[in-house]
Amino acid sequence: MSNEDASVTSAIDTVRSDVPKHIAIIMDGNGRWAKARGLPRASGHERGVEALRRTVEGAADIGIRYLTVYSFSTENWRRPASEVNALFGLLKLFIQKDLSRLKREGVKIRVIGRREGLPKDISELVDKAEFETAENDTFFLNIAFNYGGREEIARAVKRLAADVGSGVHASSDVTEDLVASYLDTAGMPDPDLLIRTSGEYRLSNFLLWQAAYSELVFFDVLWPDFDQVWLMKAVEMFRERERRFGGVTPEDN
Ligand code: FPP
Repeated sequence: MSNEDASVTSAIDTVRSDVPKHIAIIMDGNGRWAKARGLPRASGHERGVEALRRTVEGAADIGIRYLTVYSFSTENWRRPASEVNALFGLLKLFIQKDLSRLKREGVKIRVIGRREGLPKDISELVDKAEFETAENDTFFLNIAFNYGGREEIARAVKRLAADVGSGVHASSDVTEDLVASYLDTAGMPDPDLLIRTSGEYRLSNFLLWQAAYSELVFFDVLWPDFDQVWLMKAVEMFRERERRFGGVTPEDN
C-alpha cells in the first residue's frame, strides 16, 4: 500500500469510527427547488428521490447504520390531490425500482407511520419491501410515510392501553422503554443527529419522542441539492458538539 493509499484508508477509518449511528432527515425544499426552475412541484420531489439515493449510499459508505427520512407527513394530505398522488407514485416507483438492489446490498426497509388510509397498492408494496428485506441487517432505511409524531405516540398509547386492559402489562410496568417498544421505531436506537434542509427551523411533527436528545442541524440547501458533501458537513458538526444527555462534562465536576 502506498503512503497515499494508507492515508486515505486511515481517513476513512477515522470517519467510520466516529459517525452517528442513526441520522434522521427532514427532506425539505423540493417545492422551492422546482419553483426556482419554473418546474412543477412534482419535479422537485422526483429530484428529491435522487438526493435520497445519494444520501443512502453516502451514509452507508461512512458507516452510518440507520437512516430515517420524512417522505410524507400526516399533514401533507392537505396538499392538492395531484401532489399527494405524485408523492404516492414516487414511493411506489422507488420500491419497484430500488427494492432488488437494496435487498442485495443488505438494506432492511421499514416504513413508519399510519398504514390505514394508504391506497391498497401502496400498502401491499410496502409490505412486500418490508417482508423481502426483513432478514437484512447491514443498513436500516426507515421511510416515514403518512407519518406524524403525535399520531405515532397516540397509536402506541392506544395499543399499550389495550394491553394493560387485557392484563399483558400492569400499569405500574409502564416505563419509557415500554412506551418506546410500542412505537413504529421499536428496537432501533434513537437518532443521534437530525438534519433539516431548506432553512426552516422546525421539527414539523417528526420523531417527537425519538429526537429528545438528537443533535439538530439545519442547512439552507434545498433537498434536491443535498449530497454526500452536505452529509459529511453534518457529521462533522455532530462531532464538534458535546453531548451531555442532561448530565455534566467531567471538567464541570
Ligand atoms: C418537503 O418539501 C418534502 C416533502 C413533503 C416530500 C419529501 C419527499 C421526497 C424527497 C421524495 C419522496 C421519497 C420517497 C421515497 C417517496 P416541500 O414540498 O414542502 O418543499 P417546499 O417547502 O419548498 O414547498
